[in-house]
Amino acid sequence: MAVVHVASFAPTTEQAREFCALLEAGDILYFPRTPVPLAADDAAFLLGQQQTDSSLHKNIAYKPKVDKLSGVDTKTASPAAVERLHTVMRRYSQSVVAFLAEFLAPYQANWQLDYASFRPQEEQGRDLPLRRRNDLLHTDAFPTRPTHGARILRFFNNIHPSRTRDWVVSDPFAATVRQFAPQQIAPHPGSALSRLGKGAARAIGLGAAIPSLRRSPYDDFMMRFHNFLKENPQWQTECAKYPFQFPAGSSWMVYTDTVPHAVLAGQYALEQTFLVRPEAMVRPEVSPLKVLEEIAHAPLV
Ligand code: SIN
Ligand code: FE
Repeated sequence: MAVVHVASFAPTTEQAREFCALLEAGDILYFPRTPVPLAADDAAFLLGQQQTDSSLHKNIAYKPKVDKLSGVDTKTASPAAVERLHTVMRRYSQSVVAFLAEFLAPYQANWQLDYASFRPQEEQGRDLPLRRRNDLLHTDAFPTRPTHGARILRFFNNIHPSRTRDWVVSDPFAATVRQFAPQQIAPHPGSALSRLGKGAARAIGLGAAIPSLRRSPYDDFMMRFHNFLKENPQWQTECAKYPFQFPAGSSWMVYTDTVPHAVLAGQYALEQTFLVRPEAMVRPEVSPLKVLEEIAHAPLV
């Protein structure tokens, strides 16, 4: 895996395909100077939240498809602050979408716009339950939003005025998942693993009928793998680790379902998530879906 420095914001069609291929294989595309800078007063507003309004401390989500902000306690935040935050998040989301529509042109028709987030908390020493800790290496999976094989692509901005955002990453999905026997990841009968195989097709029929089971075997596995990695101290200690410190004012982009990652320190980031459909893949064979289907000898979505 590599961190690929990107200096030009307007790739040719050929270069755009190459960027997609690098991302899919587990590289991080890194922009030393962000292509989507915030207006100075918007940045000042976001950086001011920590001091002035304790109710805006949490991770704040913006849902672009319905233009809604969540994670803000509207009982204590002033309506003006909530309104301003909403406007800043909407603008941020739109600017990332506009940039990537060109920069990753091969994906554009095949992504689903997911949430954006504002991360105002200091990451070092955050006190979170184990499965929610982001200082442990993990691949991303959403407990409540199954992707059915679509991949989780995330674009980040470090908007801290001076400090780096400190990440560690490990080897991409295919190399990491093959370090384990499938039973290690989901040992219980009736779990995702028992469906990784001949039962996969049957599980889909069931999933369609019962809303709470609408996760595909793929989603089930990815969720379990996320938990398994965080709950595995030996792997956390012994796995390959590649540290990278993203400077103030930079951006980066990565398939976080593919590249195990952890954030160790840093404060104030913005992020926009895209779910990229399998049809759009330039190198489908390295996608977690194809890797798992090859292991299972069965379709998983
Ligand atoms: C994560 O997705 O695990 C957190 C990344 C970050 O906030 O920098
Ligand atoms: Fe993550």
